Amino acid sequence: MKRIGFVGWRGMVGSVLMQRMREENDFTAIAPEFFSTSQVGRPGPDVGREVPTVKDAHDLNALQALDAIITCQGGTYTEAVYRELRATGWNGYWIDAASTLRMQEDSVIILDPVNRAVIDRARAAGVKTFVGGNCTVSLMLMGIGGLLHHDLVEWISPMTYQAASGAGAQHMRELIQQMGFLHSAADRLLDDPASAILEIDRAVSEALRSENYPREHFGVPLAGSLIPWIDRAMDSGQSREEWKAGAETNKILARQTNPIPIDGVCVRTAAMRSHCQALTIKLRQDVPINEIEEILAQANDWVRVVPNEPEASKRELTPVAVTGTLTVTVGRLRKLAMGPHYLAAFTAGDQLLWGAAEPLRRMLRILLE
Ligand code: HSE
Repeated sequence: MKRIGFVGWRGMVGSVLMQRMREENDFTAIAPEFFSTSQVGRPGPDVGREVPTVKDAHDLNALQALDAIITCQGGTYTEAVYRELRATGWNGYWIDAASTLRMQEDSVIILDPVNRAVIDRARAAGVKTFVGGNCTVSLMLMGIGGLLHHDLVEWISPMTYQAASGAGAQHMRELIQQMGFLHSAADRLLDDPASAILEIDRAVSEALRSENYPREHFGVPLAGSLIPWIDRAMDSGQSREEWKAGAETNKILARQTNPIPIDGVCVRTAAMRSHCQALTIKLRQDVPINEIEEILAQANDWVRVVPNEPEASKRELTPVAVTGTLTVTVGRLRKLAMGPHYLAAFTAGDQLLWGAAEPLRRMLRILLE
């Protein structure tokens, strides 16, 4: 049995990975070993079988004994360990959730329902470093992969609505604290059916601007507002999150030499763990909507096309509808007023599943085939 090491399995993405691996009985197919930067010597997690005690995630000798390492520990760990470990001559598979190695020439960004052929070619060529994509990029590709697969796309402009989870676990907690803070500011007025709405609004606005509004992690209000910037600034004027859309999509599709322009505005919204995106897509041809729906629906087992109708859109195209599921919905499909080559679409997907843990889990299964 292959010896597989897990690092960062206690964090948010790592916990979702553990949960999915238990659900899919993945642990029965491997000899798992757990590594940590803080839990060394403690018992490993309950994965339905006996596992050795937790080892030191910085112990290169222990890591060298592994056939593959899956890390959800974050970029700082990858930076500290990856090169040193490779320098020892270790030639095992490194499967990483962090962005650190994504754009390296000798790594592949994994999203097998979309780029299995790219993954297989890379493995045949000896590539041993496989990195999960940015969540927004992966979820967009799970939603509209069919159009790209049929080479129907000239360019895409994604306008995103990204959940708090993308910023981290502490941010999710803070979002709820912010919601509670706002509610408590208006609580008394809400209970009084005769209170004026502008009075409620004034109380909430004051709370949003108050010194006591919980904002340690976001820095600014998210609940009751939104944040039109994610990640650091690039010289291009894009946020790094916006830059990733084009850079990572074209790498996932192995189109770096013939890239599709993809650029838009990334926005943090007050959803918990599912990202949405409104897409403007310039098609290469005037393809009828019913054909587009068919192409999208057939692209993979998880995408679900939602009819462009009010009730279905409000019920199925939301963070609430997809959270905790592997379904990626795509809807609001219609031609825009700009002309028959311009398509509108809206997608929703769980940021921790297809956006983070699931591509890593599936890459492990691919290695075991
Ligand atoms: N960078 C993403 C976000 C999450 O901030 O929502 C990880 O891909």
